Amino acid sequence: MRIPMIAGNWKMNTTVAEAVALVKEMRPELDQIDNVDKVICPPFVSLAAAKELLAGSSIKLGAQNLYFEEKGAYTGEISPLMLAELCQLVIIGHSERRQYFHETIELVDKKVQAALKVGLKPILCIGETPRENEAGKTEEVLSRQLSLTSEQAYHTGLVLAYEPIWAIGTGRAATGEQANQTIGFIRRYIAKQHGREIAQSVRILYGGSVTADNIAEFIEQPEIDGALVGGASLKPSQFLGIVKQTSEIKRVK
Ligand code: 13P
Repeated sequence: MRIPMIAGNWKMNTTVAEAVALVKEMRPELDQIDNVDKVICPPFVSLAAAKELLAGSSIKLGAQNLYFEEKGAYTGEISPLMLAELCQLVIIGHSERRQYFHETIELVDKKVQAALKVGLKPILCIGETPRENEAGKTEEVLSRQLSLTSEQAYHTGLVLAYEPIWAIGTGRAATGEQANQTIGFIRRYIAKQHGREIAQSVRILYGGSVTADNIAEFIEQPEIDGALVGGASLKPSQFLGIVKQTSEIKRVK
């Protein structure tokens, strides 16, 4: 019922020339894989070139951030309107933005609303720090991070990504079972907030050290609808491996 999604978050990697080469290399095979929503999220400066290269393909394009105002004197920021011309999705509230750029829950929600207003689908990231995890505060933290997300946002197709911060870029992924349990909690929380139907229809991805070698462990879990992939999304054979396995495993189930 929920179409799986694999999204590649390239983070602050690749020049335009490198991004073009990567898209060219991945497009032919990636385009052929069905039963998965395939998304790549290169840096802002490569979105226009990537859009051209992906025209007519089944691969979707996402940005990694946006500002909530549509235009004006906000030097250096990128608006939802600018992105709506280039891509279909946008990552919002990534832990790196919350951590290094001090994005608050309120700011993240303003960005979600701004994205939805122009028809961009948000991939809203949530996740706990290692310290919060050790203190047994994971559920409390996730509930707070989701507290402002409106019913309307879910209806419009918002995608969630559960990314425990201790698993990001560390090579220390959660186990499939751990991730499934926490994502199960997220669904129960959303059911309490907005009802069972919304909780059952929202796609929830896992993120944090996902590779072609461990993706199956996550995708086999019933609550997990896909992955938000960092490092491995920059390696064509890894990313293709992740997408292919997802397509196959979710087809059988
Ligand atoms: P890694 O896959 O490199 O751990 O990054 C995960 C992530 O932050 C994706 O948004």
